[in-house]
Amino acid sequence: MSVKMLVTGGAGFIGLNFVRWTLENRPEYEITVLDKLTYAANGGAINGLKNFKKISFIKGDICDPNVVFDAVENTEIVVHFAAESHNDNSLHDPMPFVYTNIVGTANILEAVRKFDKRLHHISTDEVYGDLAIDSSDKFTPETRYNPSSPYSSTKAGSDLLVKAWIRSFGIKATLSNCSNNYGAYQHIEKFIPRQITNILCGIKPKLYGNGAQVRDWIHVDDHNSAVHAILDKGKIGELYLIGANGECDNKTIVETILELSGLPKDQYEFVSDRPGHDQRYAIDSTKLRQELGWEPKYTDIREGLAQTIKWYEDNAYFWKSEKQFVEAKYAKSGQ
Ligand code: NAD
Ligand code: DAU
Repeated sequence: MSVKMLVTGGAGFIGLNFVRWTLENRPEYEITVLDKLTYAANGGAINGLKNFKKISFIKGDICDPNVVFDAVENTEIVVHFAAESHNDNSLHDPMPFVYTNIVGTANILEAVRKFDKRLHHISTDEVYGDLAIDSSDKFTPETRYNPSSPYSSTKAGSDLLVKAWIRSFGIKATLSNCSNNYGAYQHIEKFIPRQITNILCGIKPKLYGNGAQVRDWIHVDDHNSAVHAILDKGKIGELYLIGANGECDNKTIVETILELSGLPKDQYEFVSDRPGHDQRYAIDSTKLRQELGWEPKYTDIREGLAQTIKWYEDNAYFWKSEKQFVEAKYAKSGQ
């Protein structure tokens, strides 16, 4: 018998990879994707998955309670990826982040409360703010929330709503907070695909500020296998940090992409910094590994980057028509 799973944001970067991974590896799930198809979505790629049969699609906005209640009533499990996800956008226009990330999540919570459904809420390590570049500290599930940007503060708000609904109403929910993902289908506004496609277009990669900021990179398939480990074995009410010990500074990432693309390592340029730029993220994923036995598959960032470069080379249809628009938008802020 199939288990019905509703995936919000399943046409976005991580959600789409989650849907694909689940269809390929976990045939017991019958998936419905609920997605508004914003600029960040890949509606065409969802269509391409239709040959799996066990997938259906609802175009809808999680800010609309009617849409959310109908979809949640007809499922058993909700995996909630839908969000406005890009920090730079949140600095130019924060309100869509408030609506989708906070109001949208509240609608999901009210629906799972009413129909008594299992929820897994997808969140980010950015809710903890940043760490000093020169420290060896890492985020743990006990770290205090201290978000910096409109994006991360709305994600922190959504997490707090989930925690309150767990405690006050006893909903059957878990949360996960993951570090920076990379892989196929990531929008070219994000750091790694922006630099890969810059190089493919003969544009120099762009580093914000001094390029010394550190992110803790994880391959998107490892994020998604961790989400499945939580769905399978996670304890209701618990929060799990997902990370693969992939700390690397931005300059080294750009140098590696240049080298893997057969170019001199210094062919990049520095551009205006991001206001309020978080300096370093690092995840301690001991709880996930020890309690649920999860381990990442992609432990070599160089190998993962080479695979990702090849994907963007082979799938120019995915990004080519948008490249000029994205770069023109960045150019307006000197980035
Ligand atoms: P994305 O921007 O690529 O995709 C978001 C998806 O949500 C899109 O398909 C979009 O159409 C959909 N969406 C947006 N607003 C909606 C609304 N109001 N109603 C319905 N659908 C809507 O994002 P992503 O990078 O795939 O991130 C997915 C989730 O993972 C987010 O919750 C994000 O906070 C979290 N996360 C991302 C990362 C990362 O590195 N990208 C890391 C940790 C956590
Ligand atoms: O940590 C998890 C978070 O990772 C997720 O919650 C977010 O949804 C996701 O977008 C990501 O946030 P970041 O702000 O860390 O990712 P971004 O790809 O925008 O930038 C990564 C780093 O690279 C950051 O230090 C800013 C820098 N950067 C970014 C761009 C787009 C550059 O130096 N140059 C660039 O052109």
